[in-house]
Amino acid sequence: MGVVLRAMNRDDVSTVAALEGALFDDAWSEALFFDELSRPESRRWIVADADGHVVGYAGVWLTLDMLGGVPVAHLLDVAVREDQQRRGLGRALVGAAIAAAAEAGRPCLTLEVRAGNAPALSLYASCGFEVLGVRKGYYGDTGEDCVVMATAQPVRTDVILAIETSCDETAAAVVRGGREVLSSVIASQVDFHARFGGVVPEIASRKHTEAIVAVVAEALDEAGVGFGDLDALAVTHGPGLIGALVVGLAYAKGLSLATGLPLVGVNHLESHIFAALLADPEAGPPLVALVVSGGHTSLIHMPEWGVYRTMGATLDDATGEAFDKVAKVLGLGYPGGPVLSRLATDGDPAAIAFPRAMMDSGTYDFSLSGLKTAVINHIRAEREAGREVDVPDLAASFQAAIVDVQVAKSVRAVAETGARYFVIGGGVAANPALREALTAAMTTEGVRVAIPPPILCTDNAAMVGAAAHFRFLRGEVLGLDAEAVADLRIDSPGSEQARS
Ligand code: KG4
Ligand code: ZN
Repeated sequence: MGVVLRAMNRDDVSTVAALEGALFDDAWSEALFFDELSRPESRRWIVADADGHVVGYAGVWLTLDMLGGVPVAHLLDVAVREDQQRRGLGRALVGAAIAAAAEAGRPCLTLEVRAGNAPALSLYASCGFEVLGVRKGYYGDTGEDCVVMATAQPVRTDVILAIETSCDETAAAVVRGGREVLSSVIASQVDFHARFGGVVPEIASRKHTEAIVAVVAEALDEAGVGFGDLDALAVTHGPGLIGALVVGLAYAKGLSLATGLPLVGVNHLESHIFAALLADPEAGPPLVALVVSGGHTSLIHMPEWGVYRTMGATLDDATGEAFDKVAKVLGLGYPGGPVLSRLATDGDPAAIAFPRAMMDSGTYDFSLSGLKTAVINHIRAEREAGREVDVPDLAASFQAAIVDVQVAKSVRAVAETGARYFVIGGGVAANPALREALTAAMTTEGVRVAIPPPILCTDNAAMVGAAAHFRFLRGEVLGLDAEAVADLRIDSPGSEQARS
């Protein structure tokens, strides 16, 4: 027996009304169906026709409502004759209803279903509907709850090639829809800088120039896409080392010119925040972010997508820089963070009382140079007294001084802003003691925490692609005359004054 889905006409009404009457207590009457068919501008009715016999039907109302900015249609009714059920006809009718709604410019279809109707709930879920909410005691006859469902919002699945060269990592990634990382390639130059005990800007620029073509090619290759599959290009245009930023930006502008693809500029701090959002798809504003890296220490409030306000930042050294400098004095090599945090696990965080600078300053700013000096003075004093420096104790005590201040300020920042989420980004976010202390403190505050896995904490281009997605959706693109900005601010216009 062949079944076709076709538009319902007036000749079908008596059969449809009879089916309806057999299936439902609160059945629609013939008059109601005739009335429906007299409104072709706002209704779509479909029947399942099995060799001339109508065995199922569905109706859609093309409403003027919007949901999340998307026009909505409402599924009025769907039913299948009892002896024809469990053959996929319900699914087919729901699919046809979704298609009819989409054709009429309504990409979203909503429906209402009795909470006790388990087969219908599972049918709709399998057709891509999600629960929007529940109306308690909605049905007068039984007092049953009504479940409101909607097809998932159509997501823009833009594919973006992102490039990052703000410091000492040459990175490229392909990201779909701001969430799905199709590839992420990172060429670290850390070995070239290690022998100098820190990043040498001139070397960084030169190494980026050498690596960028191959890194981008590998990212495209790994993702299995060509330039023709891309919707946009993205690049970090600041803040960072100017000579390093220029390499990525110039290359991205060249690609944009050659391919005609729009180029989206991303702020490096913003991208570190998006690394956390990549790790936890539920995370989003209102949030407070702590970005701690070799170049930055900032507390940033993001009340909604695309809006940033710097609450406070370091007045001198960055957190990673403090780790690197202390490690250098101890002769532990570069970068210092990973080594010191490993050593700290064997030390006593209370062994040496290092200062907690600006802990009670009442602001969200940080100062780390005093701590660094105190640590260096301690090392000198021990050496002059002929004593061995207890490196694990020193590492643990130094780390605890940093963690205490950052936890205290972060907790105050989420309380003041009423943030729902707290996120951490930047190379120092890979520090286990900091991750644990912040997670524990925020959990006590009832605030959810999103921390990227270590590979997304340090510089990468996947986070740039994630941040670029939102800017691309808002139509924010760079011109070919755009310049790299070493001290590019993240703050949205008008929010600078609010900085404490
Ligand atoms: O974000 P990132 O890769 O580069 C910048 O944008 O600066 O961060 C690198 C910094 C270095 O200073 C490094 O010592 C620090 O992150 N870092 C750590 C840890 N892992 C990396 N600091 C403390 N503990 C760690 N486990
Ligand atoms: Zn960084």
